[in-house]
Amino acid sequence: MWDEQAEHPVKIDENGMVHVYGHAETVEVYGDPRNYSNNIAPQFLGDTEDAGEFNSGSLLQSDPPHHTKLRKIISRAFTPRMVAGLEPRIVEITHELLGAADAEEAGGFEMVDDLTYPLPVIVIAELLGIPHSDRGLFKKWVDQMLAAAGVMAADDSTGEQSEDADTAAALRRVPEMLAYLHEHAADRRRKPRADLLSELVHAEVDGARLSDDAVVDFANELLVVGHGTTTALLGNMLLCLDAHPQEMERLRKDPARAPGVTEETLRFLSPIAGSYRLATADTELAGVRVSQGQLLTLWLGAANRDERVFEQPHVFDPDRTTNPHLGFGRGIHFCLGAPLARLEARVAVNILLDRYPTLRTDPDNPPEFLPIPDLIGTSKLPLLTG
Ligand code: HEM
Repeated sequence: MWDEQAEHPVKIDENGMVHVYGHAETVEVYGDPRNYSNNIAPQFLGDTEDAGEFNSGSLLQSDPPHHTKLRKIISRAFTPRMVAGLEPRIVEITHELLGAADAEEAGGFEMVDDLTYPLPVIVIAELLGIPHSDRGLFKKWVDQMLAAAGVMAADDSTGEQSEDADTAAALRRVPEMLAYLHEHAADRRRKPRADLLSELVHAEVDGARLSDDAVVDFANELLVVGHGTTTALLGNMLLCLDAHPQEMERLRKDPARAPGVTEETLRFLSPIAGSYRLATADTELAGVRVSQGQLLTLWLGAANRDERVFEQPHVFDPDRTTNPHLGFGRGIHFCLGAPLARLEARVAVNILLDRYPTLRTDPDNPPEFLPIPDLIGTSKLPLLTG
């Protein structure tokens, strides 16, 4: 398959979907928002009104010039400094979650339920400024949202959900949660606090501000794109370390290796395997003709193993001197939450190795994987600590 990828970095299937496997070709599409649009919602939803409403505060579904302006305003609120300030809380929450898991059962725990699923939701909730007392409520809505997207559908017996249905469901939101976020946005307009919702409602660039609708849209988007992905990354790191015990030992001895392990995991087992674009003009990509209206899937997992870019692409090597992986995308839509995902990964993996002198997968109880093709991660990851 990988040889074929080098020979045919772009392919069109019988349904007209354009599949992009090569690194250079993926970078080309990411770098050309004029010809390859992010506004793919109408393709999936088939309902332009819904799609229009969704676009109002969504970065991911918008194109320039709307995207440029929106990202500028949001970046003024959601800053790397704000993310860095979350570190002490991420440490506390990680210990809190693992402490609860240890109290429940000695000798091991199930990492997805006990740590990697709840951690990113709690962190995003705290970032937004959701009161601690509403954490349970918030988690319930997020569960509903992700279940609708099929993200946590580990028990899905058919495994035959169509990508279109999955994506359309993922784009729908939980009305109670939207109403709740609206209330909080309105409250922060009146009484700002030290949280992201307050920063978002007050952020201004050249006199332009976000409406409450746009703030709620964006808060919702953070949960859609920032939760399942982080859950997947944390689990994938453990899988990579488990499969490479010498790397686990090196990290135990030197916690400063965590960023290298994180980046290599993003390359080797990219959580987002596929990212989408819509061709807005007739173009050509690696000699393949792409027509206006065709949908493209950029297979990041494949691009990240492109031997034209990565030496020994199938080897997990956290010491790569350069690692231009596309796990967080590239170009104008480059993941806005990358600093947060990297921080959570570094903190969580180092705490795990600190707390447990032994940490390994359970041969009698192997990991289970998410049943959807474009998110690579575990839905169950039982670990032994003794
Ligand atoms: C965009 C991956 C975590 C917020 C993206 C894109 C990728 C990605 C590939 C680009 C998609 C495209 O161009 O179509 C990931 C991975 C994560 C992660 C692998 C975890 C390991 C997060 C977190 C947040 C976040 C924690 C926020 C809390 C966003 C936003 C965008 C984005 C807002 C859209 C940016 C834009 O369109 O301008 N992410 N992400 N992500 N991500 Fe992440």
